[in-house]
Amino acid sequence: MARPRVLVSDKLSETAVQIFRDRGVDVDYLPDLGKDKEKLARIIGDYDGLAIRSATKVTEKLLAGADRLKVVARAGIGVDNVDIPAASKKGVIVMNTPFGNSVTTAEHAIALMFALARQIPEANGSTHAGKWEKNRFMGVELFNKTLGVIGAGNIGGIVCDRAVGLHMKVIAYDPFLSEERAKTLGVTKVELDELLARADFITLHVPLTDKTRNILSRENLAKTKKGVRIINCARGGLLDEAALKDALDAGHVAGAALDVFEVEPAVDNVLFNHPNVVVTPHLGASTTEAQENVALQVAEQMSDYLLTGA
Ligand code: MLT
Repeated sequence: MARPRVLVSDKLSETAVQIFRDRGVDVDYLPDLGKDKEKLARIIGDYDGLAIRSATKVTEKLLAGADRLKVVARAGIGVDNVDIPAASKKGVIVMNTPFGNSVTTAEHAIALMFALARQIPEANGSTHAGKWEKNRFMGVELFNKTLGVIGAGNIGGIVCDRAVGLHMKVIAYDPFLSEERAKTLGVTKVELDELLARADFITLHVPLTDKTRNILSRENLAKTKKGVRIINCARGGLLDEAALKDALDAGHVAGAALDVFEVEPAVDNVLFNHPNVVVTPHLGASTTEAQENVALQVAEQMSDYLLTGA
C-alpha cells in the first residue's frame, strides 16, 4: 500500500510531524497555507489527509478539488471552519480532538474573569505609563459571586470546578447536563432566563450552532443583572457585539472579556478600545501543554484512520 500523504496547513506542534513520520505517513508541514486559499486549492488534490487549526477554511469549493482526501482533522474542538455536509457528501471524515485543550481554555476563561474583576489589563497599561492610578482601579471579589456558565460540557465543566474552588456560587444552563452531573460538579442547573437574571459573571462554553448563535442577543442581554460581567472564550457569534457595546455604554454591563470574535482575525471590532473590555486574540487553546496534546491526538487519530481505516 502506498504511504498516505498528509498536509498540515496551520501552525501545529512539530510533535505531530514526527508522529506522522514515525507511523509511516508522509507529511508536508506548511503552517501558513491556511491563509493562502488559492495555493491550498492548487495542492489539496495531492493529499489523503488535512490537519488544521482555525485559519484553514475547509469549504465546499476547496473540497471540490480534494479528490484523494479521506480525512480532515481539527487540532482543537470547534469544527465550525469545516463545511461538514460538503465533506460528508464527498465521503471525507471530519475529526477533532475534544479533550486536549479543555483545561487550557477553561483556565483562560478564569484568567479573563480575574482580569475583569480587578481591571488588570487597564491597570497594567496605566502603571507602565507611570500614572500610579491607585484610586482609579477599584475591583470586585469573585468570592460569593454568582457565576452563570452557559454550556457545562468539557470546558464549561472544568470552569465550574475551578469556580467552585474559588467559592463562587455556580449556576449552569445546559440542556444536556444531568442533575447527577450538576451535583457532582457542585453547581445548580437552571434555565437560561434564570441564569441571565441571577449571574454576576456569565461565561460561554457552547459550540456555535444554529441554536446557540446569538445566545446573548440584544433581548437576552437586556435580561441580565445590572453590573454583570461577560466572558467569551468559546466562539464569536454567540453574542451580539453591537448590542454588547450598547449595554456597556449604558453601564448595564460592567465589563466584558473576549477571546473570540464574530470576524477573525479581528483587526477591527466595535468593542475594541472600550475601557471596560478586555480582549485577547483567540488564545484560549494557546499553551504549550494543550498544543502538544492536540498535535499528538491529531497525528495518532489520522494515522490510525489512514493506515488501518480505524
Ligand atoms: C478550539 O476549538 O479548540 C479552539 O478554538 C482551538 C484553537 O484556537 O486552535
